Amino acid sequence: MAAYKLLLLPGDGIGPEIMAEAEKLISFLSRAGVASFETEKGLVGGSAYDAHGQAISESDMALAKSADAVLLAAVGGPKWDGVPYEVRPEAGLLRLRKDLALFANLRPAICYPALVDASSLKPDLVDGLDIMIVRELTGGVYFGEPKEITDLGNGQKRGVDTQVYETYEIERIARIAFELARKRSNKVTSSEKANVMKSGLLWREVVTALHAREYSDVQLEHMLADALGMQLVRRPKQFDVIVTDNLFGDLLSDVASMLTGSLGMLPSASLGGEDAATGKRKALYEPCHGSAPDIAGKALANPIAMIGSLVMALRYSFGLIPVADAIDKAIADVLAAGLRTADIAGPNDKPVSTSQMGDAILAELKKTLG
Ligand code: IPM
Ligand code: MG
Repeated sequence: MAAYKLLLLPGDGIGPEIMAEAEKLISFLSRAGVASFETEKGLVGGSAYDAHGQAISESDMALAKSADAVLLAAVGGPKWDGVPYEVRPEAGLLRLRKDLALFANLRPAICYPALVDASSLKPDLVDGLDIMIVRELTGGVYFGEPKEITDLGNGQKRGVDTQVYETYEIERIARIAFELARKRSNKVTSSEKANVMKSGLLWREVVTALHAREYSDVQLEHMLADALGMQLVRRPKQFDVIVTDNLFGDLLSDVASMLTGSLGMLPSASLGGEDAATGKRKALYEPCHGSAPDIAGKALANPIAMIGSLVMALRYSFGLIPVADAIDKAIADVLAAGLRTADIAGPNDKPVSTSQMGDAILAELKKTLG
């Protein structure tokens, strides 16, 4: 039986509650003989700051580097609003992304049939929706230098962030998008602001050239990021794969999440390049949502994005496709049976707790894999 090392980073807020539901599934999969998962736990974000004054410790970074995959829940919260910028909770997440070179962030927005009414859009606009947002994750304005606030000495300050992209960064993320599109509906929408940004102009040029060179079988369109935001809420089913930079990807994936009913539904995979020797990729899996401090500790959180992130790990890191499909089906069945956490509950639903949702998905899965 294959053995895999998983590092679990529950983080802050609702993080530990939703991670607990993923852990139930992981230990079931080990017991059922699907694979043997060796798990370790670490701290990231505010919880790491409280424990050792850093957003992630060196020893947890080392664990992350040696794991086959990292599963992270969420970081941040008002408790750490005043901590120095370098050690704020988000810095732990950004360091993981950067140091593991996880340049490709895959954010699938799928509307489960049972949830068409939970979306903020009309049911016919989202029924059957299946979009993959491919967000560049280690470049752009998140990491570009200079990044600073300088004192101008006249009572004024200047804040600077820098958007930088080089050819290889655009090419490798576009390649991921084209490859994914070939396995889906064969269409890529590349998005930037080429009308106002030099980096956007380069982005469009590089994507166009790569397409002509290697992927002319895939349908490619370019769409300005503002227009794409508008089209996402106007006619979202026109999209298959969307590829965009770090900042636009952050914004557009939050928009897309509401099409699926709730931000609590969207998982993500962050992947590095393929290791030439082993063919493996470094990988981190996390929900797109944040730590929701307002509902932390109240058993209200929706664990589906977290469980969906585990499913993505099974799919992309471990090649356990039938098991991944089985969990996806268990989620769909539980939703079809009417179970709803508060975020996706309609006016007549009686919401279930975080662990009731997790348990129901596990029980459903046992019917297939038990
Ligand atoms: C996300 C989050 C992060 C980001 C935050 C927590 C730093 O919003 O993963 O979308 O901006 O990338
Ligand atoms: Mg975000």
